[in-house]
Amino acid sequence: MDNYDLQTLASQLACPYGEDGTAIAEKMNETNAFITERSIEALAPTAGERIVEIGPGNGLLSRPLIRALEKNGEYIALEPSVEMVEQAWNNLSGLGAAPVTIFTDDSFSAPVITHSVDGVMAVNVLYFIDDLDALFRKIASWLKPGGRAVFGVRSDHCLKAIPYTRYGFHIRSLEDIKDSLLASGFHLVETSYYDEGIQLFDDLEIPLDALIIQAIM
Ligand SMILES: C[S@@+](CC[C@H](N)C(=O)[O-])C[C@H]1O[C@@H](n2cnc3c(N)ncnc32)[C@H](O)[C@@H]1O
Repeated sequence: MDNYDLQTLASQLACPYGEDGTAIAEKMNETNAFITERSIEALAPTAGERIVEIGPGNGLLSRPLIRALEKNGEYIALEPSVEMVEQAWNNLSGLGAAPVTIFTDDSFSAPVITHSVDGVMAVNVLYFIDDLDALFRKIASWLKPGGRAVFGVRSDHCLKAIPYTRYGFHIRSLEDIKDSLLASGFHLVETSYYDEGIQLFDDLEIPLDALIIQAIM
């Protein structure tokens, strides 16, 4: 891949668009299955809960989460990509589990009611957030007391080794993310680290790992 291709890929990952966005989302479902499964495990959703997911992409990886909420729960997704919203709706609205609402908003402007949410999950999204403190304060405002937040990210070490991340990704250390959570009123619960080895994304061989960061209000 040349620099133009890498830059295009980075902008598609930040907000998938058009036909290429659809193809990228399908590839993400392969590459990001493991980190999403671990994030859902850490969130431990249960029947009847209201859960917000930030940036679900086309939503296919979120199906186990919605099923765990059962019919009396509620799943709310915030996704700024119009194409991803449409596909996530097609993939998630007919599961026969928790009712699904998808807002075509980014996480800063979505109409989530204050102190109404049991848990928030965001997988591979924090790299695209300019002001992490502001996002964490916003999430804190949505959560009930004792509400949980789970963030699945690639480590800074991993991101620095991936060539497209130099185009607009915010690469933050675990310590920086933790400090921002604490400054926003969260208590840290646990961080888990998994080495996923070398994986193929398009024609790129990339070293992948998964950091799952759990916090509560
Ligand atoms: C790299 S993709 C990850 C998709 C999926 N979570 C996964 O891990 O495969 C990032 C997703 O976050 C969305 N996104 C980017 N900025 C966002 C924001 N400020 N609020 C909500 N979603 C955002 C993008 O549109 C995209 O669907």
